[in-house]
Amino acid sequence: MGKKIIITAELEELSWAELSEEDQVLLTEAKKISESAYAPYSNFLVGAAALLNSGLVLKSNNQENVSFPVGVCAERSLLGYAGANHAEDPVKKLAIVAKRRGEKVWATVSPCGLCRQTISEVEMRFDQPIILLILKPNGNVIKVPGIQSLLPFKFEDLNG
Ligand code: THU
Repeated sequence: MGKKIIITAELEELSWAELSEEDQVLLTEAKKISESAYAPYSNFLVGAAALLNSGLVLKSNNQENVSFPVGVCAERSLLGYAGANHAEDPVKKLAIVAKRRGEKVWATVSPCGLCRQTISEVEMRFDQPIILLILKPNGNVIKVPGIQSLLPFKFEDLNG
C-alpha cells in the first residue's frame, strides 16, 4: 500500500486597508510599471515590483516578442535584473499585478511555472523566502509566504 503524502499551503487574502504601507507602496509601483509593459500580442499588461533587503525597490514588466516563446514575464525580467545588478541584496518581497489593455479592473494573475522555478532559485540563492503579493480583481491581495506554497515538491538539488 502506498503512503499518501498531503501537501498544504496557507495563503492569506487581505484587503488593501489591511496591508502594511510597505506592501501598498510595492503594489502601487507594480501597478505603475504595468502601464509600460511591452505586450502587443497578448495585450495582458503585467507589472512586478521587488523590495530588496536594503529597502531598494526595483520594477519591471512583461516584454513580448513576435516569436511568442521568446517573450519574458514581468517576474523573470525583474529577477534577472535584480540578480545581475544587486547580486548581494536579497529579494524580500515581490508584488505582481496585471490588467488587460483598455480594461479598468485588474486581472487575475499568478506566476507561471517558469517564474515559480525562477523565484525558487532566488530564494535558494539568498536562503530567504520571498513574500509574494498578488493583486486580485476585487482589490484584495493574496499574500504568499514563499514559493513553497505555489511550487510544492520542487526541483532544487542536483545531487539529492
Ligand atoms: N505574464 C507575466 O508577465 N507574468 C505572469 O505572472 C503571467 C503572464 C505575461 C506573459 C505574456 O507576456 C502575457 O503575460 C500573457 O501570458
